[in-house]
Amino acid sequence: MATEAGELLRDGLKKEFSFQFKGEVDIVTEMDRAAQDLIAQKIRKNYPGHGILAEEGLEYEGSSRYKWIVDPLDGTTNYAHRFPVFCISIGILYDEVPTCGVVHNPMTDETFTAAIGQGAMLNGIPIHVSSTANLATSLLGTGFPYQKREITDNNLSHFCALTLLSQGIRRCGSAALDLCFVACGRLDGFWELHLKPWDVAAGVLIVSEAGGAVSDFSGNQTGIDGSEILATNGHIHSDMAEALILSRPGQGED
Ligand code: IPD
Ligand code: CA
Ligand code: CA
Repeated sequence: MATEAGELLRDGLKKEFSFQFKGEVDIVTEMDRAAQDLIAQKIRKNYPGHGILAEEGLEYEGSSRYKWIVDPLDGTTNYAHRFPVFCISIGILYDEVPTCGVVHNPMTDETFTAAIGQGAMLNGIPIHVSSTANLATSLLGTGFPYQKREITDNNLSHFCALTLLSQGIRRCGSAALDLCFVACGRLDGFWELHLKPWDVAAGVLIVSEAGGAVSDFSGNQTGIDGSEILATNGHIHSDMAEALILSRPGQGED
């Protein structure tokens, strides 16, 4: 179903589509909704009792212990500008624990998958996090919350600190892809604040199953509804965590 939604989104990029503002910065396009409808219909048809939580206003409790967490288009701002970096992210929880995940990039035809205890794959081939041992030679990913103009923990202080400490930082515009890039070693680490369950439900499992580490900035275990996430190859985890704590807004002030 992620592949079919991907075809819909890829074809949609060549056409006109409408969009609305959900907040001052945050938008939704008609393609976000069309992809969500396609995925939700497939889940309901094939797994009628399963719960669903999807970004564009769909929440269904269901009678099963399984719940699907769906971001039908991760990278909406990119998509709306026809910047071709976006994906579909689908995670499945069993008793609230991430058990399966798929992230599909229709522009590169790359599908990242993971099942708990069974490793992570890219197009069916096992993947593993990088072996980069030092923050200074690491390539990192991050993103900024839509509320960036209203809140102080908008990631700018962390971004400044890690820009100087790392080899480089990329802001690709899709948190789910960022996590997959950590999983397959294209990035050595990723952090972000204020993400939602649908941004990370698939990606955190893919990183863990690829041998990476996932926590909050203090190094504590975090669920898919945590307000901060740090995902790395494991080797640079404590150095990144330390840099994130030291660069918290207000840190060092009396
Ligand atoms: C966004 C993307 C982006 C991240 C934002 C998310 P959306 O999701 O994942 O990379 O920085 O915080 O909200 O709105 O494109 O699904
Ligand atoms: Ca998202
Ligand atoms: Ca989305």
